[in-house]
Amino acid sequence: MSSVFIVGAAGNIGRRLVERLANRGHEPRALHRKPEQADTLKDLGATPVAGDLTALDAPALAQLMAGSKAVVFTAGAGGAGMDVTNAIDGRGLETTVDAAQLAGIKRFLLVSAFPDAGRGKTPSEGFENYMAVKKRADVYLVDTDLDWVIVRPGTLSDEPGTGHVRADVAIPYGNVPRDDVAAFLAEVIDQPTVNRIIIELTEGETPIANAVDRLQRG
Ligand SMILES: NC(=O)c1ccc[n+]([C@@H]2O[C@H](COP(=O)([O-])OP(=O)(O)OC[C@H]3O[C@@H](n4cnc5c(N)ncnc54)[C@H](OP(=O)(O)O)[C@@H]3O)[C@@H](O)[C@H]2O)c1
Repeated sequence: MSSVFIVGAAGNIGRRLVERLANRGHEPRALHRKPEQADTLKDLGATPVAGDLTALDAPALAQLMAGSKAVVFTAGAGGAGMDVTNAIDGRGLETTVDAAQLAGIKRFLLVSAFPDAGRGKTPSEGFENYMAVKKRADVYLVDTDLDWVIVRPGTLSDEPGTGHVRADVAIPYGNVPRDDVAAFLAEVIDQPTVNRIIIELTEGETPIANAVDRLQRG
């Protein structure tokens, strides 16, 4: 059992991840910014931790995450505009990475974006900015000596999970249910020898535990 600090815990992937981790015997600690989210997160098995990513600096966030064994960043602006994307997916990720380092937490999972998203369409300015910010966030994390894993899901859906995915360092673009993204992240937490790897993730045929297992190092 270990304590996992989740940034974006009240979100659509975050809530599913909280529940999965609690069911697997971990202690999810759920950063959320709205007071009314605390009860839902508690009901899902988390310890709610109130805090707004835009109002926290790295030392303050490090204090909130102290003692956790891993950090998962699955926060996002959710289409709220370029300034919010820059603040959450961009600077928010950097603050969280800095905080993990200050708190001495090595394991860091980041939910990023699939590089083929939007291919074949003329991207809006906002989408272009989103993809650029996501890529810079990946670079920021990769440049640390943290024990990181970057997961790049395809287009997210709210379809029920199948427990099966396709996951590798390069795969064709596709959709993936948020349920399966959360299950995949929980499995990565439980397989610590999967590290320093960027993983593309879509729906597929491989049971999630096997899909993670074949990405182990060594
Ligand atoms: N949509 C796609 O197809 C797609 C594909 C690939 C990757 N992604 C990425 O997947 C990730 C999660 O997706 P999702 O569907 O779970 O998104 P979501 O439901 O919008 O969840 C994002 C969470 O981030 C939180 N957040 C935003 N600003 C915050 C702040 N200032 N302080 C603390 N928390 C804050 C939100 O809080 P509130 O609950 O308070 O709003 C929300 O809970 C995002 O990073 C997204 O970029 C999405």
